[in-house]
Amino acid sequence: MNATILHNKKVLITTGPTREAIDPVRYISNHSTGKMGYAIAKQFLQQGAQVFMVSGPVCIELQHSNLTIVQVNSANEMYMACCRFFEDADIAVFAAAVADYRPAKIAEQKIKKEESSFTISMVKNIDIAYEFGKVKKTKQLSVGFALETNDELVHAQNKLQKKNFDMVILNSMNDANSAFGYDTNKITAIRKDQLPREFPLKHKTEVARDIVKEICSLLIHRYEHKALAYFE
Ligand code: CTP
Repeated sequence: MNATILHNKKVLITTGPTREAIDPVRYISNHSTGKMGYAIAKQFLQQGAQVFMVSGPVCIELQHSNLTIVQVNSANEMYMACCRFFEDADIAVFAAAVADYRPAKIAEQKIKKEESSFTISMVKNIDIAYEFGKVKKTKQLSVGFALETNDELVHAQNKLQKKNFDMVILNSMNDANSAFGYDTNKITAIRKDQLPREFPLKHKTEVARDIVKEICSLLIHRYEHKALAYFE
């Protein structure tokens, strides 16, 4: 791995699930454990990068002198925390499983089971990656994830365009021992400048290494372009 290119680079990572409150004791969330995001953070730290991680509630501990972690619950809190770091970030990795919707109203008191059924009205959450994709500078590099169950490549390519990512890491729910909760993952890296690259099933530490290696290759590509443009 190219060790120098990431030295002192500022990296923003979102990771884990978000929790969207229903009342003071209940919430809507998903099965994300944050393992992938934390594994990616470790790889960046090993390469000398400064990592700013905005993490939903997970059961992982990570400490490092170059690591700042902000713990959040909801998608709105995650977005607000990212606003502190995005502008100065060289690289942003959106690995969080952000809830797409939240309850329209949070009940002030615990909801009692009086009715035989009830409906929770939901409103759309902010799309964090999309918002930062709109203001991303050309020198910044962003990577997103896509977890799909069908037409995986098409959906992932759409996310690459829509959210202005430089690369999307595709996980398929159809791959065994992959994605949420597992220690292993099987990914396909989708870049604007290359054909999709499929990796075999690996431990998440190795997958994180592959992802960070792909990011290094994107950075090198960018510098080569800059250097060549100088002679044109
Ligand atoms: N993402 C985000 N904020 C959201 C939703 C998603 O930052 N509110 C980011 C995720 O971290 C991921 C990428 O966008 O990097 C794609 O997330 P995903 O949930 O797969 O896609 P959605 O845009 O939510 O689309 P859908 O759920 O319809 O597949």
